[in-house]
Amino acid sequence: MSLREQLDMSRLPSHIAIIMDGNGRWAKEQGQDRLFGHFHGVESVRNIVEGAAELGIQYLTLYAFSTENWDRPVEEVTGLMELLVDSIKKETETLNKNNIRLHVIGDINMLPDYAKAELDECLRVLGKNTGLNVIMALSYSSRWEIVNAIKNIAADVKAGHLEPYEIDQDTIKDYLTTREFPDPELMIRTSGEYRISNFLLYQLAYAELYFTSVRWPDFRKDNLYEAILDYQKRERRFGKTGEQLHKQNETTS
Ligand code: IPE
Ligand code: IPE
Ligand code: MG
Repeated sequence: MSLREQLDMSRLPSHIAIIMDGNGRWAKEQGQDRLFGHFHGVESVRNIVEGAAELGIQYLTLYAFSTENWDRPVEEVTGLMELLVDSIKKETETLNKNNIRLHVIGDINMLPDYAKAELDECLRVLGKNTGLNVIMALSYSSRWEIVNAIKNIAADVKAGHLEPYEIDQDTIKDYLTTREFPDPELMIRTSGEYRISNFLLYQLAYAELYFTSVRWPDFRKDNLYEAILDYQKRERRFGKTGEQLHKQNETTS
């Protein structure tokens, strides 16, 4: 049976988040420069977006560029920006045909003007689609997002729109850039690094974490299915005991 056939289609995660890591090392391993790795990473994005859409996953968040990545050498940053904009632009038509809706989270004001303009145009074209939601985390970091949320909450309290006693977890969710999306059930990081690197710190509270040594440019649909299969073997307890969950399952089945 293929990996795809082994998936339990009734228990797919609705939201998968991916830290697409390892482009630079992948390139170096072949004696090429880092941008060559980023270039090949785009093919993985295409393949995984297609794979997620075929499965009927509703949300796919892709960490493409972090706030901290601005500190990389200027040639890499410029090359990456051009590649990102170019790829999104080239893919817009196909994404549109496949009813894929694009969202961007992150500090977009940091992007060069040409990149912002191109991105806005793609968002406009893809903004009304109703299929898979692809959320690009671009110039994103979770601490940046949380700081902004707190600033906005404080401003609303000061303006009298919100009372401090009213603030609960739903309020906080509403002030995050991900307010429209459910929390990811599964977070995948490629390339053998075991860290979160400032990605969705609040939203990943109960996500299942999956780490693979596969470098991002080598990551394909079968690797995605493997991650989902691993996720489907896990017991998500949310603080309860295994016995409580088993009892619950007996009464609901
Ligand atoms: C991920 O690959 C892409 C970005 C962070 C933009 P890296 O560029 O981090 O590749 P490694 O981790 O150096 O191999
Ligand atoms: C995280 O990868 C950010 C993206 C994949 C966009 P990095 O390669 O920048 O993370 P660190 O610095 O190794 O933690
Ligand atoms: Mg990296």
